[in-house]
Amino acid sequence: MRFDTLIKNALIITAVDRFSADIGIHGGRITALGRDLGEADDIIDAEGLWVLPGGIDAHCHLDQPLGDGAVMADDFHSGTRSAAAGGTTTVIPFAAQHKGQSLRAAVEDYHRRSEGKAFIDYAFHMIVTDPNETVLKEELPALIEEGYSSFKIYMTYDDLRLNDREILNVLALARREGAMVMVHAENADCIAYLAELLTESGQTGPYYHGVAHSSIGEREASHRAISLAELVDVPVLIVHVSGPEAIEQIRWAQNRGLRVYGETCPQYLMLTAADLDRDGFDGAKYVCSPPPRDPAAQEAVWQGLETGVFQVFSSDHAPFRFDDPQGKKLHGEHAHFEHIPNGIPGLETRLPILFSEGVVKQRIDVTRFVALTATNPAKIYGLYPRKGTIAIGSDADLTLWDAAAKSTIRNAELHHAVDYTPYEGLELTGKPVLTLCRGRMVSRNGQPTAAPGDGIFLHCDRPQPARPRGEAKGF
Ligand code: URP
Ligand code: ZN
Ligand code: ZN
Ligand code: ZN
Repeated sequence: MRFDTLIKNALIITAVDRFSADIGIHGGRITALGRDLGEADDIIDAEGLWVLPGGIDAHCHLDQPLGDGAVMADDFHSGTRSAAAGGTTTVIPFAAQHKGQSLRAAVEDYHRRSEGKAFIDYAFHMIVTDPNETVLKEELPALIEEGYSSFKIYMTYDDLRLNDREILNVLALARREGAMVMVHAENADCIAYLAELLTESGQTGPYYHGVAHSSIGEREASHRAISLAELVDVPVLIVHVSGPEAIEQIRWAQNRGLRVYGETCPQYLMLTAADLDRDGFDGAKYVCSPPPRDPAAQEAVWQGLETGVFQVFSSDHAPFRFDDPQGKKLHGEHAHFEHIPNGIPGLETRLPILFSEGVVKQRIDVTRFVALTATNPAKIYGLYPRKGTIAIGSDADLTLWDAAAKSTIRNAELHHAVDYTPYEGLELTGKPVLTLCRGRMVSRNGQPTAAPGDGIFLHCDRPQPARPRGEAKGF
């Protein structure tokens, strides 16, 4: 057997194991693990490096137009280039339906946006904002069957949100069809109420975005999403969880045996409300929903990662340039917080931050790092075992880490199209030094080496973790 590539002397780390072996790659897949495997066209010596499954960023926004004219800085070209440079080999951005649009048209739109542009592999979650009869009866069942087996719903934002009855309808559909539902859980009326009070008292700067998006509103919506899912008997995943209030709801549900999953993001580990309070309009750089909270919330999020409340760690990359009339300054430097585009960039820094702050500082084991950043997202979104592990038959999506390398995050060295990073100056230990997607090198020493169009679209299976427990009420 002659391999295309042989990775020698690898310390392989999966979500459950660590072992030393050589990795034989043929036709983009891992075809052998062991010693003295044979000849290869290319040999990579991984002596002293850790070989992990390539990262899967299961929550990021690319080239997604927003209602009021804000334009995302990253499309499928710059976004996937940046992800590759940071050790990620698969992204799952969104194909967002706007109200009145057919879901099929939304998916086709995002295929046009991504065609020929991606450096790494990608799938789509749908965003369902208009669950009318046609969507529920025809479009969703067909699209789920075709490989779009997950979708996000919103409990807030006027142009996106579903009411509770609509949520029940889509949850029931997900149960019937075997899809995974992701929920943006914030209480829209709590936000509107607080925003009105803040406006009346003239408190309208970026900092007050965080006040309006309270952790109480996040807790209430998380609990409600969990209850609606329990009623229908369908698993659900609460995305971008910011602190202890929502975490407690998820843990409570998990302890009761419900299939409730949780996702968190780097911003909830590294940022706080104080960042939104920076001089002038700088706080706008940190405006995202839910917002970063306080140091106690950061600690609770770490605990949630350590104890297994969270299954998924994603970037929620939602890229807006700061100094730009189509970005954070859409409505000028004195904009009311309600008019600052929501979102923070983070595709390239997601893995290095969790590695440095989590693995190197011994808050989480490296096997849990792999589970959170690759294996669990692959399972939860129907890509496993093709993606998310190092096993014979799996795609050769591999990231080689130098666990001791030092670096400092500098926006000037990142490959996204955003003009800032929230993590400027953060010192890191541990670095992805070589990343392969289906056996092809996509980045080396933080520099992208692939070409647009190298990445392929992935059809997702119906995820096993989306199966109901068989206890629906009233069936
Ligand atoms: O503020 C955020 N997170 N913007 C991105 C959209 C979303 O809700 O995830
Ligand atoms: Zn969201
Ligand atoms: Zn998001
Ligand atoms: Zn606006």
